[in-house]
Amino acid sequence: MDINPSTRVSSIGVYAFAAVDAKVADLKAQGITPIDFGVGDYQDPTPPLIRKACKKAVDEHATDGYPSYIGAQAYREAVAAWLRRRFDVTLDPRTQITSTIGSKEGIFNFAEGFVNPGDYVICPSPGYPPYKRGTLFAEGKAYFVAVTHKNKCRYDFKKIPAEVASNTRIMWVTTPSSPLGYVADLDFLKAAYEFTQKHGIILASDEAYSELYFGDAPPSALQVAGPSFDGVVQFHSLSKRSVMTGWRVGWAAGDKRIIDVFKKVKTNIDSGTPNFVQDAAIAALADEKHVEKLRRTVKRKRNLICTALRKAGLKNCKNPAGLYLWQKAPDGMSGEDFAKLLIEKCHIVTTPGEWLSDEVDGVNPGAGHVRFAFVPPMAEVKDAAERISKLAL
Ligand SMILES: Cc1ncc(COP(=O)(O)O)c(C=O)c1O
Repeated sequence: MDINPSTRVSSIGVYAFAAVDAKVADLKAQGITPIDFGVGDYQDPTPPLIRKACKKAVDEHATDGYPSYIGAQAYREAVAAWLRRRFDVTLDPRTQITSTIGSKEGIFNFAEGFVNPGDYVICPSPGYPPYKRGTLFAEGKAYFVAVTHKNKCRYDFKKIPAEVASNTRIMWVTTPSSPLGYVADLDFLKAAYEFTQKHGIILASDEAYSELYFGDAPPSALQVAGPSFDGVVQFHSLSKRSVMTGWRVGWAAGDKRIIDVFKKVKTNIDSGTPNFVQDAAIAALADEKHVEKLRRTVKRKRNLICTALRKAGLKNCKNPAGLYLWQKAPDGMSGEDFAKLLIEKCHIVTTPGEWLSDEVDGVNPGAGHVRFAFVPPMAEVKDAAERISKLAL
């Protein structure tokens, strides 16, 4: 028999990071172990305090069965306590917070709750692919806003056509932005909130990288709405804050009415994050020391690579926050060509910018860039910096 994917699945290209993984496999098949700055997945271990909490919890939850769809009360309380400490916002853990299986799942499935066929979702380009892919699976249309070093990832709301604004259900913002690393200040978040409120749009703020900052701590979109968080939802996870990418634990927090609809979507899709992982996340949220150490490590890695690229003759594109460097390629070179050069000459894997971006007004804002994820261990980052600094570009 013929096996045919659905129109929906056929309509989407290859998941960018799967293609990066394939490139790494190619090199390995040739006996070369590349230094992998491709996917934003830490290669260092999860901090011991988190692993210890999980080991203990496995026995305590020996007979639990399916976890709660919305997260254990203790986990939601830990999230609420952390949000209060970090952003000075007060959320009711019973009604304004729900757990997610990492934020990717939440972000992708979110559109199912709110988007009808033909509705728009405003997404940054370059941006995290599930904003768009979740929209397409819900049969909506993505409207892309270009985010660049030039505009520091601030959207120009005046440029969004009235027809789009009036038919948009969700607007995604990412702060710190990814992959460029710009922090949305309160002024920008207030402007985003005003725009979404004016047009009846949900403001969905992806704050997965909020703890990877090198200057002042970034604010949250939750801070610009009143105590009911009218029309606002924050997506967050322990992945990037606590080196827990493999643990799949995150949350959505904000307007009770949004959380209610989203819970309904999720109860039909998944069975929640395991309780022993939620206990590990509670331990992680109670500790800031490992996060401070992680920030110092990521900053050092960033500085090593940025210095090496400048020695090689490239433009300074240092990220103010986040886990990535959005490096401009040598003049006249595409991101893919530059990524190829880095693989061939330095055995370094990066992600070409074109793979992470969609065209805006006929121009791909990711063209001519590569993304470095600061995830290899320090010794490998030093090695990579040595190799890059010897390039004459
Ligand atoms: C911008 C952004 N948001 C969200 C995520 C989701 O991470 P997770 O599903 O591990 O929470 C990622 C992962 O790389 C990301 O880059």
